[in-house]
Amino acid sequence: MNKAVKARAREKVDLLIVNADELVTLAGDNQKPRTGKEMQEIGIIRNGGLAIKDGRIIAVGKTPDVTKSFKAENVASANGKIVMPGFVDPHTHLVFAGSREEEFQLHIEGASYLEILKAGGGILRTVRETRKASGEKLVDYGIETLDVMLEHGTTTVEAKSGYGLTTRDEIKMLEVIQRLNQLHSVDLVPTFLGAHAIPQEFSNNAEDYVNLIVDEMIPKVTEKGLAEFCDVFCERGVFSLEQARRILMAGKNCGLKLRLHADEMSPLGGAELAASIGALSADHLLFASDEGIKAMASKGVVATLLPAAAFSLMNGRYADARIMINHRAPVALGTDFNPNCWVENQQIVIALACHLMKLTPAEAITATTINAAHAINRAKEIGSLEVGKKADITILDVPNHKFLGYRFGVNLVDKVIKNGRIVIDREASRSQVHLLEEHEI
Ligand code: NIG
Ligand code: FE
Repeated sequence: MNKAVKARAREKVDLLIVNADELVTLAGDNQKPRTGKEMQEIGIIRNGGLAIKDGRIIAVGKTPDVTKSFKAENVASANGKIVMPGFVDPHTHLVFAGSREEEFQLHIEGASYLEILKAGGGILRTVRETRKASGEKLVDYGIETLDVMLEHGTTTVEAKSGYGLTTRDEIKMLEVIQRLNQLHSVDLVPTFLGAHAIPQEFSNNAEDYVNLIVDEMIPKVTEKGLAEFCDVFCERGVFSLEQARRILMAGKNCGLKLRLHADEMSPLGGAELAASIGALSADHLLFASDEGIKAMASKGVVATLLPAAAFSLMNGRYADARIMINHRAPVALGTDFNPNCWVENQQIVIALACHLMKLTPAEAITATTINAAHAINRAKEIGSLEVGKKADITILDVPNHKFLGYRFGVNLVDKVIKNGRIVIDREASRSQVHLLEEHEI
């Protein structure tokens, strides 16, 4: 029972959540992301309850203890359900125009991701479509995507630029992200990813494009305050380790925090680079070396794993999450929502992580909540259900947390609470029209 509860007698609050079979709090010393065995500790309170006021959590405990001290007109019962922090998605390419279903077919027939990119498809195809699209159109598409994410329980999302690849178009993308952040209840964390591909105009002089990023794009983007992070797609045939280092250091010098696409398709040493430059996160890591993982662990760099992206590459390889956990590198999970990996749903990502990377449901919950929050520098505000934190909460219609990953392919969300308000209520909207009338049977 926490102190805040004892101090106030039947205080009126905005919302009470009561009778949760499991209240998955992730409470604890959340100064640093969780590693090793800590990833199993998800702070379950049985018959749990929560009090929410002014968008914040003001009490967490057993239901009778919370209701002894707080009352509300708005009371949500989570009987038979679990209550957990809203999912945090720490890696998305949220904003783009068009789609790439023809390339999906080519992948199935055996073409590789990098072959398609080399032939002017992949990211470059999406760049052509995104450059043509107006900011308003991109905002519309972004809202559609964020609606789906929220319906599936995600309340905070990292969002990258990277389909503009000119100063103007990268700024257009980041302004779309800024507008979406104002318009939509899902919170966004903006990342500048001008180094997502070498644009076709620069195919014979990649260094000139790197110079443009360093000398023009980063200063302009940061001057306008449009990004918090700088990211690079560090990959053979895309941006080399040296180019990535140069771009990231330029970002750092302009006050951006760092993250990178590392060791996704080849062992380039991206994990080592992330550790050496003080990145908050290194992402993908299918080919990360043991030394790289150890270096990340020693610096507390979050390993943001994206099993849906690996699934979309169709070569049967996944990041070695168990080695990372054993080496005490903190692990987070994201969707990598993008036109090559069109998935908005962190529940599916958990299912993939459990089945293909052998994370336990508890580890996967840690990876999609508090560790994901650390990966985007938001752990003080979100990622756990503790007094003072934002009331960003997902209620799932399952009897215990071990159903995550185990029951998959359907949306388990019952309710989503964002900033203390119920924004999704699937129970209330569920109808019975599918049942036949007595005379029809
Ligand atoms: O994280 N790998 C590079 N970037 C994205 C894919 C983006 C795209 O194919 O459009 C990723 O997988
Ligand atoms: Fe990505």
